Amino acid sequence: MDALLAAAAALAAALLVLLLIRRKRAQFGSHVASLAQPPKPKRELRIGAWTRAEVAAHNTREDMWLIIRDKRSGEWRVYDMTDYVEEHPGGYAILNNAGGDATAGFHGPQHPPTVFDLLPDYYVGTLVDP
Ligand code: HEM
Repeated sequence: MDALLAAAAALAAALLVLLLIRRKRAQFGSHVASLAQPPKPKRELRIGAWTRAEVAAHNTREDMWLIIRDKRSGEWRVYDMTDYVEEHPGGYAILNNAGGDATAGFHGPQHPPTVFDLLPDYYVGTLVDP
């Protein structure tokens, strides 16, 4: 009888451990998924040609644009990153140059090459007075 009880207890413990592992995996998995696929911008983005002054007006956590120069074409591009601020894995450092030129910071070693794939979703046009 004792042996039966011990076996039942061992089984219950094993099940509990399995359950905990599954839960941890689910949490970890969704974290990885959120890194790979940040949500698309919620707002409708208006594409245009902007001046530095116009971009500079969007310099808060709730309304945040960045200028990032495309290294290959040399084109000065503007991005409405508002909906990404809270998703940014590097936290509020993304606001360091809010409303201004973030080219140098964006090309920093902290960023994996995949950041380039994220940018097009936030594109709102070009800069007319670089
Ligand atoms: C299009 C997407 C992204 C943009 C526009 C962006 C932009 C920025 C900017 C402007 C900074 C500040 C750099 C500086 O002033 O020196 C920064 C910092 C950083 N970013 Fe991003 N980022 C993006 C995506 C990511 C991703 C996907 C990761 C990680 C997987 C990441 C990790 C970091 C880290 C670790 C920092 C430094 C944080 C600190 O200094 O405290 N970023 N990012």
